[in-house]
Amino acid sequence: MSSSLGLSPEIIRYLAGANPPEHPALARCREETARLPEARMQISPEQGAFMAAIAHMLSAKRAFEVGVFTGYSALATALALKAAHPIGAHLLACDISAEWSTLARGYWLEAGVDDIIDLVLAPAAETLDQRVAAGEEGSYDLGFIDADKTGYDAYYERGLKLLRPGGVMLFDNMLWSGRVVDPADTSADTTAIRALAQKAKGDDRVRSVLTAVGDGVLICVKR
Ligand SMILES: C[S@@+](CC[C@H](N)C(=O)[O-])C[C@H]1O[C@@H](n2cnc3c(N)ncnc32)[C@H](O)[C@@H]1O
Repeated sequence: MSSSLGLSPEIIRYLAGANPPEHPALARCREETARLPEARMQISPEQGAFMAAIAHMLSAKRAFEVGVFTGYSALATALALKAAHPIGAHLLACDISAEWSTLARGYWLEAGVDDIIDLVLAPAAETLDQRVAAGEEGSYDLGFIDADKTGYDAYYERGLKLLRPGGVMLFDNMLWSGRVVDPADTSADTTAIRALAQKAKGDDRVRSVLTAVGDGVLICVKR
């Protein structure tokens, strides 16, 4: 399981005790994913609770996600969408891994939200382009981006088209385990993350804030 950057085990336990109880399917997804070598890709439970709260604040009905893995963040979002909108809730979930998303489907079925999740296995920029071309511009309330970091700018531009005014897009790993402040790190991933933070800050199309939730969540509200 992934944990929030810089938090002690005691603080993480405290957060778990203070936050709403984790849905049993979320708990199972987290516990089973913890056995995979890639487990640290999963968002933390406290970040899942944070994202669900944002979905509720927006009374979000339609959302998109880029980067599903074993389905934890999508499940946290889908539960919030469906609770607020038992009819019409919709989550577009983009990934390229059939193996991981098969695991995800099991948890979504267990939680009774599989029917609202449209999983598309293809490079996410193509999927988002197709949704724009299909006339879905301005029809989403919420987006969550958590995939290849060099693709973040492409997802930002496409996500902005899909969001309605007042809609919110969240970008994960914006602190990149602290690597963003290492001047020696000029890798493509780190450079792309730094560039997006600066771009959003100066972009009149959004109001943005970079938070230290999880591994750094950039919140962009479309004007
Ligand atoms: C960090 S994981 C996502 C974690 C997930 N949000 C969670 O909470 O468990 C990143 C995911 O992005 C997917 N991915 C990588 N490149 C992609 C691309 N070009 N298009 C769509 N998905 C991609 C990977 O297959 C992987 O499942």
